Amino acid sequence: MQEVNLVNVYIMGKKYAVPDSLTIMDAMEHAGYELKRGCGCRAGFCGACSTVYRLGDGHELYVGLACQTKVEPEMYLAQLPFYPARKAYYDLEEIRPSVADFAVLYPEVFKCLGCNSCTKVCPQDLNVMQYVAYLQRGDFTSAANESFDCLMCGLCVSRCPVNIVHYQAAILGRRLHSRYLVPAAGHLQQRIKEVEEGKWDEKVEELIKADTSQLKEMYNQREIEK
Ligand code: FES
Repeated sequence: MQEVNLVNVYIMGKKYAVPDSLTIMDAMEHAGYELKRGCGCRAGFCGACSTVYRLGDGHELYVGLACQTKVEPEMYLAQLPFYPARKAYYDLEEIRPSVADFAVLYPEVFKCLGCNSCTKVCPQDLNVMQYVAYLQRGDFTSAANESFDCLMCGLCVSRCPVNIVHYQAAILGRRLHSRYLVPAAGHLQQRIKEVEEGKWDEKVEELIKADTSQLKEMYNQREIEK
């Protein structure tokens, strides 16, 4: 039988001995927590499981995704269910991909001090300060590419000395890029036209009426684009 090494971790201040092979999220369940919030995909994609921790007596504050980060001895853990951050509201049809329109919605982006704290804290290893620089210049395509893997966990905001809400500003950049800067996909336009003309009504009706096993069968038999 494989030997299990136990390490002491502290969850919300209480000490638990957990196997060192576990992620923080698994360790919390091992300790008896039932995770109803603060977890989603459990695969490092959704950003719901941001966690801050310290190690032993060290004063440094670390961050990570609880579903991906393995426990370490003397880890003092706290979950961040949500990081309070401002979100601008806008109608994408009423704004344009310009620095002027962007600055009205996220003016704090232009106060960046260049400290790079956002980049250092990102659990996805994104170059956050770089995409902030692209947003300042109105280069929304580069900002979209640089921020593409953002999980929206909010940890970047937690460290920013000038209160930039990086992830919300980045999603505006990606929206401007997709709405105005990428050429419309011809096949999508064609399909929208067909849907509007009712060409697929019968098929949609079939899907609505199908039971689970029929849906599974249809899914397995579907045409896969090469
Ligand atoms: S649960 Fe989705 S990123 Fe961790």
